[in-house]
Parts: sequence; C-alpha cells; structure tokens
Amino acid sequence: MTHSPTGWLAWLESSSLAHAMRQWLWLYPAVEIAHIAGIVLLVGAAAMFDLRLLGLSRGVPVAALARHLLPWARAGLGLMALTGTLMFTAHATEFGASPVFRIKLALIAAGCLNAAIFHRWPFRTVTGWDVATATPPAAKAAAVASLVLWTSTIACGRLLAYF
Ligand code: HEM
Repeated sequence: MTHSPTGWLAWLESSSLAHAMRQWLWLYPAVEIAHIAGIVLLVGAAAMFDLRLLGLSRGVPVAALARHLLPWARAGLGLMALTGTLMFTAHATEFGASPVFRIKLALIAAGCLNAAIFHRWPFRTVTGWDVATATPPAAKAAAVASLVLWTSTIACGRLLAYF
C-alpha cells in the first residue's frame, strides 16, 4: 500500500465494503435513500428553525423549538456522515478527485461552523427575545447563512452524479 492520497483512495475502493456497495443490487440505492432521509431530518429541522429566527410564527418560543429540533438535526447529520462515507467508499478515487465533492465538504463544514457560532453567540441571550419579540440581526444573519449553506450542500450532492 502506498501512502499517497490517491493510493489511499484506491485502497479504500478495493476494500470488500466498497465491492459490496458496487455489487449488491439494492445496497447502494438503499444507502442513498437513507442519505436522503438524513437530508430531510437535518435540512428540514434547520429550515424550520431558521424561518422562526427570520420572524415567522413569533408565538413559538425559540428556546423550546431549538430543544425540539436540534437532536433531529444532529441525528440527520450523523446518518448522512455514515451513509455518505459508505457511498464515497464505493467510488473513492472518482469522488476524491471531484471538485464538487470538495466544495460540498467545505459547505458542510461552514454549515456546522455557522450553527456552532450561532449557539455560542446570539443564542446565549435568547431569554431576551424568546417569544413575541424581534430576533437580533446576528440571529437573522445566521438563519440566512444556514438556509444558503444547506441548500447549496444539497445542490452539490445532486451535482456529484454529473461532475
Ligand atoms: C457528512 C458527510 C457527507 C458525505 C461524505 C456525503 C457523500 C455523498 C456521496 C458520496 C454521494 C453520492 C453521489 C452519487 O452517488 O452520485 C452523496 C449524495 C448526495 N448528498 Fe451527500 N454526503 C454528506 C453529507 C451531505 C449533506 C449534509 C447533504 C445535504 C444537506 C448531502 C446531500 C446530498 C444529496 C442531495 C445527494 C444526491 C442524492 C441523490 O442524487 O440521490 N450530503 N453524498
């Protein structure tokens, strides 16, 4: 085994897991369906929270909504990391060389960073704007960034089949 990145990807692609992903008729589609279920959980939960931050449904308390949605978003991301890695393994050299795949990973990192900054900064003062009050501009900016980043991630995921 060589230690170059391409060698590592070729080794991954020749693993028995990668063979199974390519050869068992229903395995790749089943993993891909689970990946899409993960998108529904993560992006669905994030978008509902973002719309609340942008001023919709002001009667719904932000902190309670965050407590309800955050575990689902985390579960969705975990499911996507697992299923995405499985699909990556099947065609590791091809995905590894794809600029779209790199952009997608950068967008995922940016989406997670945006969520982490939101929780460490504007969300700390949530008791002051929890219900029936305008959300601070920093929270609105995080909501817009979240919507743009996760939508762009979905676009890159779909474009992987073409580029
Ligand atoms: C967490 C790490 C992730 C990895 C390693 C990963 C990897 C992959 C791979 C390898 C594919 C297969 C492409 C193909 O067969 O053509 C794929 C598909 C896709 N991914 Fe991800 N992904 C991840 C997370 C995400 C996230 C967070 C989103 C969206 C928010 C996302 C959206 C998509 C979409 C929309 C597709 C296309 C599904 C389809 O065409 O049926 N992925 N991903």
